[in-house]
Amino acid sequence: RAVLLTLSLLQLTRGSPVVTSGVSNYSFPDDFIFGVSSAAFQIEGGWNEGGKGESIWDTYLHDHPTFTLDHNNGDVAADSYHHYMEDIEMIKSLGVQAYRMSISWTRILPNGTDNYINQEGVKYYRTMFEELLKANITPVVTLFHWDMPTPFMNFGGWTNAKVIDYFEDYARVAFKLYGDLVKMWLTINEPHENCESTYGLAVLAPALNSHGVGVYLCTHNSLLAHARVYRMYEKEFKPEQKGKVSIVLDSMWGEPKDPNNPEDVQAAENYLQMHLGMLAHPIFSEEGDYPPFVRERINNMSREQGYSRSRLPYFTDEEVKALRGSADFLGLNHYTTQLLSPSPMEPTWQVPSLYHDTGVKMEADPLWRMPGPDWLFVYPPGLRKLVNWVQNNYKIFKEIPIFITENGSSDFGGTEDYERVNYYNDYLYQLLLAIHEDGCNVKGYFSWSLMDDFEWTDGFTTKFGLFYVDFDSPNRTRTPKLSAYNYGNIVRTRRIDF
Ligand code: NOJ
Repeated sequence: RAVLLTLSLLQLTRGSPVVTSGVSNYSFPDDFIFGVSSAAFQIEGGWNEGGKGESIWDTYLHDHPTFTLDHNNGDVAADSYHHYMEDIEMIKSLGVQAYRMSISWTRILPNGTDNYINQEGVKYYRTMFEELLKANITPVVTLFHWDMPTPFMNFGGWTNAKVIDYFEDYARVAFKLYGDLVKMWLTINEPHENCESTYGLAVLAPALNSHGVGVYLCTHNSLLAHARVYRMYEKEFKPEQKGKVSIVLDSMWGEPKDPNNPEDVQAAENYLQMHLGMLAHPIFSEEGDYPPFVRERINNMSREQGYSRSRLPYFTDEEVKALRGSADFLGLNHYTTQLLSPSPMEPTWQVPSLYHDTGVKMEADPLWRMPGPDWLFVYPPGLRKLVNWVQNNYKIFKEIPIFITENGSSDFGGTEDYERVNYYNDYLYQLLLAIHEDGCNVKGYFSWSLMDDFEWTDGFTTKFGLFYVDFDSPNRTRTPKLSAYNYGNIVRTRRIDF
């Protein structure tokens, strides 16, 4: 098995077998960082090995075995807990400069708090970072990629502000342990998706529906936790460690259904403010608060629904100060686009999610391809437009850069993944246009994902990897897909071969 992988990796370093017909006129600048991404719960497995404590994904899936599409859980996943050296070989073979991965909170702090540090877990990540650095690959590390320690979820997870304190303690432990090796930190992955889907739409574990209240408590506390950790690093670690800290925000692009209809144009803008602006504005705008539209919209909705106070909490002046400018760059995840038009909602007490508060109708253009699950429509210009929206909305991006921390396509198939090859070519080409023609300050791109993994509610049915993982084989054999050859080629030549 190891020999087979080595052979295919060797071939990978020699170039792409994908037939091409031309080359992009622009190239990625020399200082542009290419990387690949993953997350601990989605690849590691080893759920109860080496002294690890339980996260809510362990606990919830054990208690609700039919929650995922294929009734699988993350107990073994791609077994990176044991096969991490193969992962590093794979990353090396792509020629990328960076690897974005996450730390499992309960692998280093088994019950979530810093009263006990699990040395076996500590060693696992230290070895990983050392090996990456030996191979000249920069580790980019996410502290929270959705695997909340189970004991904290029992008192509300991110809806309870107490978690902010525990998150700060955890982050401090991580900075102390690894700050000599890790210089790029990401606090929280996709707070929008995490809050909306955990406490609103009930599709991420433990599937709570807090009727439009929890989703904003989670958002609010995630933002405060991010700012707290950013300021703590700035004060206690930055002078010596000289690293950078940011957050990962996600957004679809919102395309007006009819670009000539001002109401659709407004609906698309409203959607972007509610989705991305809600998280980005407090950190990147000069005001350091929620966007005025978001504040007004949720206040009004709350009033109409009979709440005496807004469902969206307020920041104190001190919190606003801590939030404003609390990032050294932006980590931006982007996959897909929706067509938007207004959809007046009847005010109702049963407000299940932020999505319903937005007051828009989302639909896909029937011409867009959908290679995998029913949410990922391929519309490459969406990436260029989204990056421009960020660049134009927040002056700060003249000084600090944007990194695309996730982008990629899904399917249900194996190694002949032509659709994924096209997806990367087309999205990366749009990124080149954003950089060269629009002057956007984008300095890096991370493909999602290094390999097939546990795709949350979809279990192992949906594949995002550049490397195919055989989840039926005891060793979770990894094989490069065509998209791995193609991506390696882009990384090496800094151009796209079409
Ligand atoms: C974003 C999430 O960060 C990641 O965990 C997930 O697998 C991808 N989207 C694809 O759905």
